[in-house]
Amino acid sequence: MLYNIDLPYPNQVTIDIINRIVKNHKEEHFTNDTIKNRNLGKNRKYELEKYYSNYNLTSVNCYIDDELSLECSKQYGDFFKSSDVGYSIVTLDNYSPHKGNSYLLPHVDRGRTASINLLLECGGDNVITTLYEQISIPEHYTTREELPAQYALPENLTEVCSSRLNLSEWTLFSTRNFHSVSNLESSRIILSITFWTEEFSSILKKYDSLLIKN
Ligand SMILES: [Fe+2]
Repeated sequence: MLYNIDLPYPNQVTIDIINRIVKNHKEEHFTNDTIKNRNLGKNRKYELEKYYSNYNLTSVNCYIDDELSLECSKQYGDFFKSSDVGYSIVTLDNYSPHKGNSYLLPHVDRGRTASINLLLECGGDNVITTLYEQISIPEHYTTREELPAQYALPENLTEVCSSRLNLSEWTLFSTRNFHSVSNLESSRIILSITFWTEEFSSILKKYDSLLIKN
């Protein structure tokens, strides 16, 4: 399930930091096409293409930044009161627009149990986030740097829900469930609050007051 969460929009200081991170990301992306150490998503994409050559794959990058962490802790720390929470910017890119819209294959995230994402740029008019039924995952899916173990093909999974997420809304979901993003035209920018270790059922209970119930 995708849960809407009631959290404030980032303050201006945080937005300025995010803009700096995104600007650097775009410069790196568009003017310097070499593979850099921190650009893990791009390395991974090239490795994944060996396994999934039928797809125009989305590149994923995660930026962890001290200033961002500090400002987000100031603004959001009181909501969580836990050292289990971290903050990052996640960018999804269609590196090959000439091949059509790109696809972030169903995957489980490594090293985190759940996230609350704020969508800052959609990456297209019809970008779809899909969640799949929980299946048991071998431990190495989430802990080891091994490809393509954390990925799966959609035809091997059962879809639970699909949604076109809205800009400026916070969404909570279990990153231990397979999830995918399809139909990406351009850059998708996300401020992501990460739960490193807490089980999803416990998160739901603990932060029930933040859930927006329809
Ligand atoms: Fe993910």
